Amino acid sequence: MLSQIYPSSVVTIANASAAEEQLHPDEACAVRHALPQRQAEFAAGRACAHRALRELGFPDVTVPRAADRSPLWPDGVVGSISHCEGFCGAVVARRSDVRGLGLDVERRGRVGQDLHDLICTPREKAALGSATDACDPVEVLFSAKESFYKAYHPATKVFLDFLDVDLKVDFSEGSFSAMLLRDDAPSLYGARIVKGRFGLTRDRVFTGVVLES
Ligand SMILES: CC(C)(COP(=O)(O)OP(=O)(O)OC[C@H]1O[C@@H](n2cnc3c(N)ncnc32)[C@H](O)[C@@H]1OP(=O)(O)O)[C@@H](O)C(=O)NCCC(=O)NCCS
Repeated sequence: MLSQIYPSSVVTIANASAAEEQLHPDEACAVRHALPQRQAEFAAGRACAHRALRELGFPDVTVPRAADRSPLWPDGVVGSISHCEGFCGAVVARRSDVRGLGLDVERRGRVGQDLHDLICTPREKAALGSATDACDPVEVLFSAKESFYKAYHPATKVFLDFLDVDLKVDFSEGSFSAMLLRDDAPSLYGARIVKGRFGLTRDRVFTGVVLES
């Protein structure tokens, strides 16, 4: 699924084996005091990141965690990591090709009606159709906004609320554009609208945001 939502300049890896990709001490210290499940999730994400970086031409590099919890990619690289029950993935690209990159994967069926007002702007609510067995539009919005945030926050260090971004989704094309609504929030390298794509399986929603260089 990941390779279908990103351009060919982005290397995508899903479900790499943490047993085959050892965590470096620089990385492991981030979850030293965490519960075993969180340590396993972190290691699985880093395993995907290591494999993706190797494919991109960066062997033997580590991906420590920044104070804001975002991954610290090697110079010249952008990337993103996501995990949810039964899945982890990482995407990376050369900064010369891509300036902003976000990945989010969510298990379906977790976004209750009570959260809709926290996730959707009034315009989005008016534009969205209702959920079907095949697709719940709010699940796509939720994941797409997290994906946007993962591309946006490392570059700007600005926290965004879900209502700070307005999404237009083309459900037939599997694409979306995310527009920054907050006037005082900096653009992402000059862009206030960033494009992305999504894919759905029975269990999961996958979203990816790419700002090409
Ligand atoms: C950071 C956040 C987006 C992570 O999403 P999530 O669905 O909880 O979890 P995921 O498994 O998909 O992603 C977790 C990974 O995101 C990455 N991440 C964490 N903080 C990040 C940040 N500030 N910027 C970029 N990536 C970040 C990390 O790699 C993390 O995994 P790791 O700790 O094992 O390395 C979410 O927890 C959050 O803080 N959301 C609030 C802000 C937001 O989304 N606003 C939407 C407005 S547009």
